[in-house]
Amino acid sequence: MLRDPDRHVMEKAYARWAPVYDALCGPIFLTGRRAAASAARDAGRKILEIGVGTGLSFDDYDSGNEITGIDLSEPMIARARERLSSGRYPFVKELHVMDASDLRFPDATFDCVVGQFVITLVENPERVLSECARVLKPGGQIILVNHLYSEKGFAAAVERLLANKARAMGLRPEFPFARLAAWADAHGGAEVIERRKVPPFGLYPLVRFRRTDMQQRAA
Ligand SMILES: C[S@@+](CC[C@H](N)C(=O)[O-])C[C@H]1O[C@@H](n2cnc3c(N)ncnc32)[C@H](O)[C@@H]1O
Repeated sequence: MLRDPDRHVMEKAYARWAPVYDALCGPIFLTGRRAAASAARDAGRKILEIGVGTGLSFDDYDSGNEITGIDLSEPMIARARERLSSGRYPFVKELHVMDASDLRFPDATFDCVVGQFVITLVENPERVLSECARVLKPGGQIILVNHLYSEKGFAAAVERLLANKARAMGLRPEFPFARLAAWADAHGGAEVIERRKVPPFGLYPLVRFRRTDMQQRAA
């Protein structure tokens, strides 16, 4: 597997993506985003969305939620703030430019942390997951939706071929589910409770972890 993405490469890439992101990525990721938000609504009221981007997910929440969004990219968050200024999303309480690997929230703050199309793009996915677990209340959930590596067959070969070029564009096609499961095993305070394909094509699996009361073994 290639090394994890550099955060400065991602910042540059998403500064370029910000003006066109909604038009190009809005429709492609729609079903994945909706599935993740729907699972998050069931998990509790206080939701943190890491890598919230331009706030395309705001439409998938309602007044039963209290949303905090963070993103590494200032231009992406600026778009989310514009969206918020419409007044249609009073349940979005806070938006911050922040690195998901260094969350500036106290322990046990949220019922749920959602990451839509972000975990494969961060510099240190295990550290980000540990930060997500830290800010969760016991019993809270981490919900990820992402393209995950096909692991075998033609799709896996194409993903490996595209991986280098994709990185500079802020994309990452090669990232296995096994790495997420290994983090949960090593952490000791989180367990995988669901892994399912999201219709219509199952391109973006949804993975849910539950925060347990056990002690953290590794970051
Ligand atoms: C593919 S976009 C997804 C945006 C949004 N979640 C959506 O589904 O439309 C990935 C987002 O993750 C953000 N990101 C990348 N690395 C990050 C990090 N370390 N911390 C927070 N956000 C990060 C990028 O700036 C970008 O906005």
